[in-house]
Amino acid sequence: MKRSLSGKVIVITGASSGIGAATAIACARKGMHLVLGGRRADRLEEIAERARSHGAKVELLVGDVCDHANAETLLDLADERLGGADVVFSNAGYSFERPFTSTSDAELRRMFEVNFFASIELGRLAAARWIASKRGGHLILCSSCVSKFPLPYQGIYAATKAAQAMVARSMRHELAPLEIEVSTVHPITTRTEFFDTAAAHSGFEASQAGKDGVPDHAPRFFVQTPERVADAILRAIQSPRSEIWTSWIVRFSAALFTLFPGLQDRVMSRQAASARPRHPIEPPTG
Ligand SMILES: NC(=O)c1ccc[n+]([C@@H]2O[C@H](COP(=O)([O-])OP(=O)(O)OC[C@H]3O[C@@H](n4cnc5c(N)ncnc54)[C@H](OP(=O)(O)O)[C@@H]3O)[C@@H](O)[C@H]2O)c1
Repeated sequence: MKRSLSGKVIVITGASSGIGAATAIACARKGMHLVLGGRRADRLEEIAERARSHGAKVELLVGDVCDHANAETLLDLADERLGGADVVFSNAGYSFERPFTSTSDAELRRMFEVNFFASIELGRLAAARWIASKRGGHLILCSSCVSKFPLPYQGIYAATKAAQAMVARSMRHELAPLEIEVSTVHPITTRTEFFDTAAAHSGFEASQAGKDGVPDHAPRFFVQTPERVADAILRAIQSPRSEIWTSWIVRFSAALFTLFPGLQDRVMSRQAASARPRHPIEPPTG
């Protein structure tokens, strides 16, 4: 039976744009109330106004997910102002494209801090509150289809998403007896600000990555809207499942590549060839 969404409370990180913003609006349309996090206050306000126009109560937290108190404060806002979170969508994240050999230790650690540690910490704290209150809940982590694909020049990003998925998978079984659901979302290429941010972090213009805001190597018939991902998330809140995929073809390819790693190597070496002109590897000097 589908769970009702009306009156339920969702906490969303990375709600100022893209998938997080689309999920916030989709949830508001279904009668949910929201706690929204992100660093850009103006963008959060904009999303909050749209959500309020659908009747949602909305609380905002402007801040970095890596800040010490960010996760606790998001959950406090849900508890103190809205009666407690029913769903937590840990979504904030970013990527860059860089040869592994020129990725600094600081860049590597920062990406794990944002994409992995902060998302897992929010999940851990939410689960602790759900256990203490015996109310149950649903934790959703925004992973990616690349959790299953070792994309050349994006290995660190793929590793953060695979790590999230692995922890979520095991948490799901630990927490199921306590009425706590755990899911991961595995979006394919989605038209958001993600690729502009990635280009900026990668040190090249967005136009070098792709003409229309998504990379040239992504087949255009695969590119999705954030609203489509949001709809899949809503369906999963109503009927929880472990993995939320938005493309059956890509899900099937992931399974095929696991069975036939040689096939995956052939596809990935073509990906590497198309990205290589952006990343000449300099020979060591001296
Ligand atoms: N777009 C895709 O093709 C795609 C595919 C698979 C998975 N994903 C995943 O989907 C999630 C959402 O990405 P998107 O596509 O919607 O991109 P987006 O439009 O760039 O959204 C990213 C969100 O994360 C927030 N964020 C980033 N770093 C943060 C930090 N340190 N502290 C707080 N908030 C932070 C950003 O808000 P502020 O800048 O305001 O802080 C923004 O709201 C990410 O986890 C991404 O890895 C995206």
